[in-house]
Amino acid sequence: MLSRLPLAGLKSQTVLGASRSTLNAVKTRAVSQVRFASSGSASSSTVESLLTSRASLISVTLFSAGSIAWYTHLYGTLPFIGEVHANSLADDGLHPGVYPWPHKGLFDTFDHASIRRGFQVYREVCAACHSLDRIAWRNLVGVSHTADEARALAEEVEYTDGPDDNGEMFQRPGKLADYLPPPYPNEEAARAGNGGALPPDLSLIIKARHGGADYVFSLLTGYIDPPAGVEIREGMNYNPYFPGGAISMARLLFDGLVEYEDGTPATSSQMAKDVVTFLNWAAEPEHDERKRLGLKAVILFSALFAVSIQVKRFKWTVIKNRKIFYKPPVEKAH
Ligand code: HEC
Repeated sequence: MLSRLPLAGLKSQTVLGASRSTLNAVKTRAVSQVRFASSGSASSSTVESLLTSRASLISVTLFSAGSIAWYTHLYGTLPFIGEVHANSLADDGLHPGVYPWPHKGLFDTFDHASIRRGFQVYREVCAACHSLDRIAWRNLVGVSHTADEARALAEEVEYTDGPDDNGEMFQRPGKLADYLPPPYPNEEAARAGNGGALPPDLSLIIKARHGGADYVFSLLTGYIDPPAGVEIREGMNYNPYFPGGAISMARLLFDGLVEYEDGTPATSSQMAKDVVTFLNWAAEPEHDERKRLGLKAVILFSALFAVSIQVKRFKWTVIKNRKIFYKPPVEKAH
């Protein structure tokens, strides 16, 4: 019905005497509209479904808008949209540089001499505050120490064991199977000893921090005086790599703090590099083996893949090389 209206209007226009060209244009338009109108009226159900689909579209839109309004009212944001806030370098921490770790490449293993030095730094410096729960003395064997060396290190530590025949706990020297001793008996003691801050367990710290080894290295070597305008609370230290800038851990590594048995000069960056290599090993003890196995797997599977291609070509060659002829039916003599 409605679509016919313009046609009537156009007719009256022609009566009014429009110029020839416009008349033609109008005519073609009118014709196309008539066609549209006829096809539309022929299937009025299409129009109806169009209308109902529009209604459903509106209701779906309203429903979604309502849900979004309700959800954002409750939770502040949508689940897949991160919270919007003004972030600054100080909030996220300065992004660490990218360092050329000797174990970084696809085929590279850890520098085990560095792991050994790093263990020394951990034991002499970090172990005063940080535990390394997931590493046992036996884990060092074959990695940085011989079995005898590791056993000797373990025996320097007293462990509580028991109960004995009288039900008493007793002290005994450590064994290879013991785990590295924690510096504090519990979290509360650790916090009390560090002005309320908890020194995290370092076993997986390289994996647990954005930037991994680069971050921890930058953190250890990145202590500077706070820039003008930045106030640091009493007992806190300024480190631009630490998110927020203020960290409870003070700068620890100063040149010559430890004495390496292999004669490497113990500069602060050398110690940081060694301890980070050690912590990287602690977080990924399977690292060397993983890369070796990975290389084996790549070689093996690519060889198998090549063989499988050859076998496929061999099996398919009969089909691929066949020729199909069209043989016209033989005309039958009548
Ligand atoms: C005097 C105690 C003390 C010593 C020694 C110490 N730390 Fe810490 N460390 C802390 C405390 C406390 C924190 C927690 C800092 C915070 O949350 O503000 C911390 C935090 C850390 C963090 C985590 C930073 C982060 O992103 O959350 C790393 C990594 C770290 N220390 C590494 C080391 C290494 C490596 C050594 C040895 C060279 C070491 N620490 C020695 C007290 C210490």
